[in-house]
Amino acid sequence: MIDTMDKELTKKYRLFLKDSLRKVIDFSQTAQSRGVAPPPLEKPYAKESKRIDLPQYDQFKDIGKIDLKTAIGNRESRRSYSNQPLSREELSFLLWATQGIKQKLDPGHALRTVPSAGCRHALETYLCVLNVQGIDQGIYRYLPLEHQLLFEFTEENLNRKIVQAVLGQHYPGEAAVTFIWTTIPYRMEWRYDIAAHKVIAIDAGHVCQNLYLACEAIAAGTCAMAAYDQEGIDKLLRIDGQDEFTLYLASVGKK
Ligand SMILES: Cc1cc2nc3c(=O)[nH]c(=O)nc-3n(C[C@H](O)[C@H](O)[C@H](O)COP(=O)(O)O)c2cc1C
Repeated sequence: MIDTMDKELTKKYRLFLKDSLRKVIDFSQTAQSRGVAPPPLEKPYAKESKRIDLPQYDQFKDIGKIDLKTAIGNRESRRSYSNQPLSREELSFLLWATQGIKQKLDPGHALRTVPSAGCRHALETYLCVLNVQGIDQGIYRYLPLEHQLLFEFTEENLNRKIVQAVLGQHYPGEAAVTFIWTTIPYRMEWRYDIAAHKVIAIDAGHVCQNLYLACEAIAAGTCAMAAYDQEGIDKLLRIDGQDEFTLYLASVGKK
């Protein structure tokens, strides 16, 4: 049992938020500095896997049109949703807003709609789809380079399982879709070594804020979640929990 009042432990955890690490890391020895090739921009997948095309940016006709002042002013965490499904176009818009690629620079770097420390983008986006037009219930992964959804698998009672995985919080079970962001830390460690972890967490904040604002633009609501069963959700996603693990979630549904 950890004594949460332990002064040394508190000091250690606070250090995580500081940039003092930069002074002790030998940046000449990072994987990047040693000339190790950069890890792939997105988690590889079997080419024969089932993939779903998503409407492209220039096909977003009547969605996403709201002035920024209104979107920011109206933003709030929304935990109750109507039964109305999300359209495929709306889902595509949310994925573009949160992780969409604008320009591939080289095999290891791409500019996206969100910023990322060192342009490392060490996140993957999984979706627990429950109510999206034309997309069967299941677990999917966004492929930013292809702007496609990769079908991962489906399971019975996914709505119950996702609720269990977020410690009984009910809204993901009633949402159209839940975004589940995992991290592949090595993508950031390759450049920043042990200074990678704080910036991965900061990156996730930007992503989720874009989701909040994009939801306001399609009459949908979202609620961020950082309280979840780590091992439970990693098991649900069938990821290893070490080299890739869940970091943050947000459920989305129409108002
Ligand atoms: C990092 C982070 C983690 C959060 N985790 C949860 C959560 O697990 N469950 C939840 O219901 N809300 C969660 N929230 C939403 C906050 O409770 C909410 O943002 C806060 O109460 C302020 O309300 P507002 O977003 O409507 O302004 C989280 C928000 C953030 C930014």
